[in-house]
Amino acid sequence: MGFFWISLLIALLLWGIAEASYWATNGVPIVRNISEIHEDNYGRLGLSHITIAGSVMHGFKEVEVWLQTFAPGTRTPIHRHSCEEIFVVLKGSGTLYLASNSHKNYPGSPQEFPIFANSTFYVPVNDAHQVWNTNEHEDLQFLVIISRPPVKVFIYDDWFMPHTAAKLKYPYYWDEKCCQSSPVKDEL
Ligand SMILES: *[C@@H]1O[C@H](CO)[C@@H](O)[C@H](O)[C@H]1NC(C)=O
Ligand SMILES: *[C@@H]1O[C@H](CO)[C@@H](O)[C@H](O)[C@H]1NC(C)=O
Repeated sequence: MGFFWISLLIALLLWGIAEASYWATNGVPIVRNISEIHEDNYGRLGLSHITIAGSVMHGFKEVEVWLQTFAPGTRTPIHRHSCEEIFVVLKGSGTLYLASNSHKNYPGSPQEFPIFANSTFYVPVNDAHQVWNTNEHEDLQFLVIISRPPVKVFIYDDWFMPHTAAKLKYPYYWDEKCCQSSPVKDEL
């Protein structure tokens, strides 16, 4: 091989290594501008959801990160999931409703926790909960980190609905478009 071809080969190899360092799992760039990541309300008025790092969307395996904004008065459904979940409140205020008595066969009356900008809170695995923007004037915005993605959500009509009657929503709204369903069991 001539000098030209060897040089070309080396250049291509170096280019490949350099390129690889800019792209992680499934071709996701290492650094991204959050303002340019897809945002949607997934059919829920007053919600803005961005999957910053997703299992189904980007191929992350251990954790998933969302940026969510709830308009005044809007809330999550009452729900549970068998993963760890940590919130970091960036803006606004609201209320966390949390029913820790999962030893009963229904959630029961929840405890109320005020949440506020710069607060952080977590939801124990499988505890039924609801996050509500109870502030009439301001958006409530937080980062959400969950383990064991993709999330498998069981939704309750009210706090006295039996755990066994909660409806599984899987794949969840933001995973729905790209997720091929696989069998999943009730993990409570
Ligand atoms: C991030 O994206 C927004 C919206 O496109 C843009 O206005 C902003 O300049 C970008 N920031 C940087 C540092 O590129
Ligand atoms: C949150 O923390 C930052 C950094 O300490 C501070 O600048 C900001 O004023 C705080 N916001 C509120 C609402 O307390």
